[in-house]
Order: sequence, then C-alpha cells, then structure tokens
Amino acid sequence: MQSTCAEIQAQVSDRVLEITINRPERKNALTMAMYSAMAELLNSAATDPGVRVVILTGTGEVFTSGNDLGDFLGGSADGEESPVFQFMSALYNFPKPIVAAVSGPAVGIGTTMLLHCDLSIADDDAMFQMPFVNLGLCPEYGSSFLLPRIMGHAKASELLLLGKKFDAQTAADVNICNEVVYSGEALGRAREYARELVKKAPEALRLTKKLLRQGTHETGLAVIREEAGHFQARLQSEEFREAATAFMEKRPADFSKFD
Ligand code: COA
Repeated sequence: MQSTCAEIQAQVSDRVLEITINRPERKNALTMAMYSAMAELLNSAATDPGVRVVILTGTGEVFTSGNDLGDFLGGSADGEESPVFQFMSALYNFPKPIVAAVSGPAVGIGTTMLLHCDLSIADDDAMFQMPFVNLGLCPEYGSSFLLPRIMGHAKASELLLLGKKFDAQTAADVNICNEVVYSGEALGRAREYARELVKKAPEALRLTKKLLRQGTHETGLAVIREEAGHFQARLQSEEFREAATAFMEKRPADFSKFD
C-alpha cells in the first residue's frame, strides 16, 4: 500500500497496516497533503482483505502537534471536500480495528483522533492537549459531544475551557487511552495488540466495532459537522489570528482587546 505523501509512511506487514506520521522538524504537524494521504490509506484499507488492523503512530518523539498552524493562517480548504474532513470521515467510518501508539505530544486533533481509534496506548511521558480555546478556536472532531460522555462534564470542561496539557496517566484515567507503558514502548505494545486482533474472526470484530459505536454514530457525525462550521468561522476571527501569530512569534497571545 503506497502513501501519496512522503510525510506519511505506510507499511503492511502480516495484515497490519502501520501508518506513521513523519514530519519531525514540525513536530509532525499535519498539512493538507498529509490528511489526504491518510484518508486515502484508510479508505483503501477499509476494503482491502490484506489489511485486518491499522496502527496509527508518529515518528520518534512525537505523535502529532495537530494541524499545521501555518496552514490554518494561510486559509486552508473548508467544507466536506477538504482533506481534513476527508481524513476525519475515513477514520470515523473505518470498519476495522485501529490501534494508536502515542509517544510525545498529541495536540489538538492529535488527541481528538484518539476518540475514534479502538485502542490507544501511550508512553508514560506522552503529553496531551486540546488547546482550541487557547487558539481562539472551538472543539472539533466530535470532542464537544464525546468528551463529556466518556469523562463527565466537569473534566471535559476543564480540559476544553482551560486547554491545559495533561499527562498519559490522566489520559488513561479519563478514558482517552487504554494503557500507559514505559517510555518508548507504546508502539511495541500496539503491535502486540494488532497481532492479537489479526488472529480474531474479522467479521465478528467488524460487527462488534459497529455495535459499540452505533449508539453515538449519527449524532456524533452531526456534531462533527456543526463543530466544523464553527471551527472554520473561528479560523477567520481576529482572536485566532492573534493566537496563531503569537505562536509563530513565540510569545503569549494577548486577548485583552477583545470583547
Ligand atoms: N504547526 C506548525 N508548526 C509547528 C506546530 C504546528 N502545529 N507545532 C510545532 N511547530 C513547529 C514550531 O513552530 C517549531 O518551529 P521552529 O523550529 O521553526 O521554531 C518546531 O515545530 C518545533 O516546535 P517547538 O514548539 O519548538 O517544540 P517543543 O518540543 O517545544 O513543543 C509542542 C512541542 C507540540 C508542545 C509545541 O510545538 C506546540 O504546542 N505546538 C502547537 C500545537 C498546536 O497548537 N496545534 C494546533 C492545535 S488546533
């Protein structure tokens, strides 16, 4: 299976497709080409009998720092044809098990994509953050709907309103990830789970995944669309412009002039 983008690597071995985000110089920040490549890989894997399980991971010391902020500032494509939406949709509807292996930072969509994986394993020094409000943005990828359901309203408010960083043990405690392992071992453990899943009855796995998610599937999709509309509008806001410019200029954002 071939990736259309050098910064997304794909390798199939023993019926496991491993998708690796590989842009370490930008902390694996995701560009439109990278979203498109991941969407295409997932859509192919969905119907390819040679793939029974997918592992999603990042190279080296980082999972992903989320969307490339320069892309956002440059005005990335919106609507359901956009590469971001295509990726979200491919992962959201993926019928086979997906195991995520998180090392280092998992920021923005790096955290919210885990809500749509089936198992997530994190190194004990992994770092999670959903800094949408800090950036003048709003929650995305169904997180405003799913987070209160998996962790309760209080914790979801804390993580989304304060946009604060949290560690792997907290991510496990609030049900964002399944298991915390020693630093550097997440990918190895994810591969163990993938090998175990490959041996199981594939149709039974697909059906079980579908049944587990069907209670929230349609509403979740409607929320993803609603959030995407707000998110796209926020990208045009002065609040976001100030936050993204501040990040590029390596200074704290100053929201004092906004009402
Ligand atoms: N988009 C574009 N560039 C990014 C990026 C992103 N999401 N995340 C990191 N980078 C760039 C940095 O600007 C820096 O570039 P430089 O070498 O030209 O200065 C380089 O990657 C290294 O990042 P740095 O911040 O120095 O690494 P760090 O180890 O100190 O911190 C993170 C890592 C992931 C915690 C931090 O980079 C971060 O918070 N990134 C922004 C995440 C974000 O807000 N994502 C959007 C969510 S919607």
